[in-house]
Amino acid sequence: MLPRAVHLTDVGPRDGLQNEGVPVSTEAKVAFVRALVAAGVREVEVSSFVRPDRVPQLADAAEVFAALGPAPAGVVYAALVPNERGLDRALAAGVGKVSVFTAATETFNRRNVNASVAESLARFAPVVARARAAGLPVRGYVSTAFGCPYEGPTPSAQAVDVSRRLLDLGCDEVDLGDTIGVATPPDVAAVLEPLLAHVPVGRVVLHFHDTRGTALVNVLEGMRFGVASFDASAGGLGGCPYAPGASGNLATEDLVYLLDGLGIETGVRLEALRDAARPLEGLLGRALPGKVFRAGPAPGPHCGGPVTPSRPPR
Ligand code: HMG
Ligand code: MG
Repeated sequence: MLPRAVHLTDVGPRDGLQNEGVPVSTEAKVAFVRALVAAGVREVEVSSFVRPDRVPQLADAAEVFAALGPAPAGVVYAALVPNERGLDRALAAGVGKVSVFTAATETFNRRNVNASVAESLARFAPVVARARAAGLPVRGYVSTAFGCPYEGPTPSAQAVDVSRRLLDLGCDEVDLGDTIGVATPPDVAAVLEPLLAHVPVGRVVLHFHDTRGTALVNVLEGMRFGVASFDASAGGLGGCPYAPGASGNLATEDLVYLLDGLGIETGVRLEALRDAARPLEGLLGRALPGKVFRAGPAPGPHCGGPVTPSRPPR
């Protein structure tokens, strides 16, 4: 049984851009977010309130939120927050959702946020409490949930343990990240089976990078377990500056194409999504890797593509 509808979070403006060396203007980021919303995306991870010198591309987080203004009804503008200093900035900017982030492996977490996993969880206690007191939903990311660039395959018990701790702190949902795109369906099952023995499936989100081409099949495996909330990034933008080898997130178009084909509702229009990602190619000066972004929707009425075949029949 697959879910009838799936909630998509486009993390392109944050996860997608954070690793890009070419500066993207605040105006272009705002236009990107607005175009995603116009395509039907209901949750956008807009930016990060991390140390600006660590992720210079997102140093204008406050300016992006100020230029966006309040999110339209039914839309959530989320941001990554590493500590209380970040939360102060995020609250002042008017974010609609706070995402704290730690990892299932110590070495990655130390490189990423300069803290052990236990230290980062301790940091989050006041962040989560204050965000909730401000009426904001909170997401807790578990990076390297399936594999780590420094420690290799992640024992599933570690991912489950950190997930449960985040939920115990008061996070509304936990988001398991395949930061370097190494998972295959048995790895997804190995984490979900024990996790779902303790946690309602509605509080679980999956975040796949498509480094080795397994992201979509991992989504399918997640849906088999009842997961109905996934992250993706328009055009397949993405990567983590502290995860060597991490490439793009699963492209949102590829995910929507699959879900459309399965008859699973997303509320997202494929062509409008491609339009949202297209300007990024010019701004970044490179081709975006998303497969459906490159190929377009299938010809014919399927997914709203052209009705006439591209080649005349013989
Ligand atoms: P730190 O250096 O340990 O922090 O950084 P500190 O508390 O020692 O403070 C040092 C200085 O930084 C102080 O300034 C602070 O005020 C300042 P000073 O007093 O020396 O002038 N500072 C800040 N300034 C602005 N905003 C802040 C902030 N915090 C401290 N929030 C920290 C710790 C976590 C902040 C740092 O290591 C950092 O910013 N790291 C960036 C991590 C990051 O953004 N990684 C990428 C996102 S995670 C990801 O991509 C994975 C994910 O997609 C899921 C997946 O794929 O698996 C989510
Ligand atoms: Mg990521």
